[in-house]
Amino acid sequence: MKTSHTAAGLVLALGMGAVATTALADDVEVLHWWTSGGEAAALDVLKQDLESQGVGWQDMPVAGGGGEAAMTTLRARVTAGNAPTAVQMLGFDITDWANEGVLGNLDEVAAADNWDDVVPTALQGFAKHEGHWISAPVNVHSTNWVWINKSALDAAGGNAPTTWDELVSVLDAMKANGITPLAHGGQPWQDATVFDAVVLSMGNDFYQKSMIDLDPDALAGEQMIEVFNRMAMLRGYVDENFSGRDWNLASAMVIEGKAGMQMMGDWAKGEFLKAGQKPGEDFVCIRFPGTQGSVTFNSDQFVMFGQGEGNNEAQLKMAAAIMNPVFQSAFNVVKGSVPARTDVSDADFDDCGKKGMKDLAAANSAGSLFGSMAHGHAAPAAIKNAVYDVVTQHFNGELGSEEAAEELANSIEALR
Ligand code: BGC
Repeated sequence: MKTSHTAAGLVLALGMGAVATTALADDVEVLHWWTSGGEAAALDVLKQDLESQGVGWQDMPVAGGGGEAAMTTLRARVTAGNAPTAVQMLGFDITDWANEGVLGNLDEVAAADNWDDVVPTALQGFAKHEGHWISAPVNVHSTNWVWINKSALDAAGGNAPTTWDELVSVLDAMKANGITPLAHGGQPWQDATVFDAVVLSMGNDFYQKSMIDLDPDALAGEQMIEVFNRMAMLRGYVDENFSGRDWNLASAMVIEGKAGMQMMGDWAKGEFLKAGQKPGEDFVCIRFPGTQGSVTFNSDQFVMFGQGEGNNEAQLKMAAAIMNPVFQSAFNVVKGSVPARTDVSDADFDDCGKKGMKDLAAANSAGSLFGSMAHGHAAPAAIKNAVYDVVTQHFNGELGSEEAAEELANSIEALR
C-alpha cells in the first residue's frame, strides 16, 4: 500500500508503527553534510530534480566537512531503529554498513540503466556488495588540488607552481606581499586532506605502499618523515586563527584575496563559483605540485537503508534520478566534482571541470588513481581516524616528524 502526503496517509503510516520523523512512502529523508554555500547550491539541483518527479524531500543536514559528524548522527539514528531513507556516504563506510546487513538493494534500477557498464570500476568497488548494487554514486571528487587567487598569483610572479620548491617560492612571495599564503582550517579532516596530497607528491608507489597497502616500512620510513617535514613547512604559511576554521571559510579567504591559496578537494570550486568567480580569470586550479598525472579520489554515494518490502519506491526513484546522465552533468557542474559515469559529456563543464574529467580518465588508465585516505576511500574509518590523530597532532606541533612517522606506523599496526 502506498501512503501519501495527506493527513489520512500520515495517520495510516503512524498506525502502522512508523515513527513520526520517518519519511512517507513517496518522500525521501536524506542525511547529508552539504551545508556550505556551494554544497547547498548543488544539493538544490538534486532536490528540485526529485521534486519534479514527485519525490518529496525531508532534509537532514549534519554540518561538518568530510562527514564525520554526519556518520555519528547516522549511527545514533540506526541504533534507535529510525534510519533515514538515503544517506550521503563515502567509500569504506558504505562497505561497513553493508556488512551490517541493513542496506537496501538497487539492482532493479541498476540493471535497467546498465550501471555495470557506465560506472567507473573504482566506484563500483564501493557501490556494490557481494554482487549487488547498494548505493548510487553522485560524483567523483578528488583531493589533490590547489585553488589559487589569480591576482595573488600574478603579484607573486604569475607562474603556477609545478614542483615543491616552486610551491615554496610562491608561498614565500605571497607572504612578502602581505597576505596569508595558505588558507587552512585546522580540523583533522582538513589536515588529512593536505596530507593526502603531500604523500602523493612523494610518488605513486609511495602512496600505494603507505596509504593503501599500509606497509609499516613505508609508514615509518624516510619518505614519510619527509612528508611530515613538508607538512610542518606548510604549517608555517597559515595564519594564527586557523584552528577549527571551517573549510569554506578558508575558501572565502582565497576568494576575497586575503589568502593566496587553499589545498582542498574540488568541492572548494563550488564556493568560488557560488561567489561568481571564474576559473582562469579570478582563480586558478592546479594539481598539488608533484602530483600531476595522479589522482586521489573520493565519491559521494547515496546509500539506501532497507525500508522493508514494498516501501522502497521513492528510494528507487531517487537512485535512478541520481544516475541520470543529464542530472550528473547539471549537478557536478555546480558541485565542483565530475560525473560518476563515463558516458557524460564535458561540454557544460568549466576548464577546471574539464581538466578534472580528463585527469580522472588518464589516471584510471595509467594506474595512478588512488582512493583518498582523508575521505574514506583508502582504508576503513578506524584506520582513517588513526591517521587523522597523528597528522593533526603533528600539524599542531605536538609531535616531531620522526615521532609522527613512527606513531603512524604503530597506531595503524595496532589496528590490523
Ligand atoms: C565530500 C564532499 C564535501 C566535502 C566537504 C567531502 O568528504 O565528499 O562532497 O563537499 O567533504 O564537506
